[in-house]
Amino acid sequence: MSPNWLMIGGKIMKTALITGCNRGLGEGIRNVLLESGYRVIGLNRTVSNCKIDNYLEIKCDISSYKNVEKISNQIDEKIDLIVINAGIRRFNKMENMKKEDWEASVNTNLNGAFYVLNKFIENVKKAKGDIVIVGSHSEKYTFEEGSAYCSTKLALKGMAECLREELRYDDIRVMYLSIRKYKKQRS
Ligand SMILES: NC(=O)c1ccc[n+]([C@@H]2O[C@H](COP(=O)([O-])OP(=O)(O)OC[C@H]3O[C@@H](n4cnc5c(N)ncnc54)[C@H](OP(=O)(O)O)[C@@H]3O)[C@@H](O)[C@H]2O)c1
Repeated sequence: MSPNWLMIGGKIMKTALITGCNRGLGEGIRNVLLESGYRVIGLNRTVSNCKIDNYLEIKCDISSYKNVEKISNQIDEKIDLIVINAGIRRFNKMENMKKEDWEASVNTNLNGAFYVLNKFIENVKKAKGDIVIVGSHSEKYTFEEGSAYCSTKLALKGMAECLREELRYDDIRVMYLSIRKYKKQRS
């Protein structure tokens, strides 16, 4: 993908990259950004193949370093905003938790965030942009059977705080959202 900064009314559009925006909260954030005039790149494990103006959907499993690396090699343009949204919930008691569910939680919620940020921070630096990391208040308000989810979100919060310190000298803001359970509005 070559640099493709679209113009609206003579102004260069801002570009946002979101993980997991084919459904759920990510889809909502994507739509708000599109309505606000952003060009949006979605890194989606499941592609919806929807045709929306200024929306580029790329198939990407963020839990795979190779997959993220391959995509990042194709995108060298500036990115004004990264939203780390993709996440999974695997709930079970520790003794009953399947190893695969634990590893999938770590690989998606924590490693996936690292892979995307590791590969795309240079793009954000070009724009002096912003990074938003979607966390969960479960990092603080823990619950039974939540070890995989709560611990990966707590680790994500730590990662966000370190990243904020690293990037403030580059005029990049890093925000961690500690959100609680939300209800989808009926359309
Ligand atoms: N819902 C809540 O009340 C709530 C509360 C606190 C925090 N959060 C956080 O908000 C974020 C979004 O939650 P949600 O409720 O919208 O979840 P959701 O409806 O389950 O959607 C999750 C999104 O992440 C994507 N995803 C999962 N694994 C992926 C991978 N390996 N590679 C790429 N994309 C992947 C999913 O894609 P597929 O369609 O392919 O599965 C989907 O698009 C999560 O980080 C979650 O922890 C949600």
